[in-house]
Amino acid sequence: MTTIIDGKQVAASVIDTVKSASAALEKETGVKPGLAVVIVGNDPASHAYVSSKSRMAKECGFTSIQHTLPEETMQEELARLVETLNADANIHGILVQLPLPKHLKSDPIIQSIKPEKDVDGLHVVNAGKLATGDLDGGLVSCTPAGAMVFVRRTHGDDLSGLNAVVVGRSNLFGKPMSALLLAANATVTTAHSRTKDLAGVCRNADILVAAVGRPEMVKADWVKPGATVIDVGINRIPAPEKGEGKSRMVGDVAFEECAKVASTITPVPGGVGPMTIAMLMANTVIAAYRKAGRTPPKF
Ligand code: GUN
Repeated sequence: MTTIIDGKQVAASVIDTVKSASAALEKETGVKPGLAVVIVGNDPASHAYVSSKSRMAKECGFTSIQHTLPEETMQEELARLVETLNADANIHGILVQLPLPKHLKSDPIIQSIKPEKDVDGLHVVNAGKLATGDLDGGLVSCTPAGAMVFVRRTHGDDLSGLNAVVVGRSNLFGKPMSALLLAANATVTTAHSRTKDLAGVCRNADILVAAVGRPEMVKADWVKPGATVIDVGINRIPAPEKGEGKSRMVGDVAFEECAKVASTITPVPGGVGPMTIAMLMANTVIAAYRKAGRTPPKF
């Protein structure tokens, strides 16, 4: 029997832990975790994401602040807002929603967030801590952190002797995912579009993580029998069977055929997706615990 991971259920259990940790911190120290989310411009998809992040932060018992800035915001104004949030003792996490409008440079903004408030895990200090295996000192990017929760719940904390293959090498996902798997003692290959015999490399994986942005690229004969397959892709493809002009969401893995070969697999939607917001809440509560000099919960 193949196990299909229910991302919504795992995310809900992470949120439960966040809620109790947040309540306990406030009771014991008076510190209420605070998350500030910043959005610039009018992109409807980004507004939908940001609203659900702000809503979830409230549900977790956090101080939840949203700054909505107009499309024509200048670099200096955004930089000043980040400075204000860096200095605000009630704010433990800062997230600037990406992508920013084209006239703004995102990297200087992201790198100006205090590393201890960088709940997106995008600051070079946090990337560096992860790369050096310092998992208890930094903040890890939310989507790889969420995918890793699935890996731990399937294989435990120690991946000694297991081969892991991550397809994709982005700073946002592939690189941190590979670093997390390596820190858990897996033997890790980071594959990408220039990899020779990608199918053959993937067939060697006990844990296969796909994050390439190509709809249903990973086929059944790429999967080692009994492997764990984690699909990080979110792709919209035409679905004429649903009506003219309709689309549906698929991952980077051809789910139906791969589910017959894998022993554990994540669906799209409903797999890694719901974990991203949950891990953002987890990072915020971790940041608040550290600021209060307490040991944060583990996720
Ligand atoms: N836009 C899409 N996903 C993300 C994310 O995880 N963090 C930020 N800051 N922006 C995003």
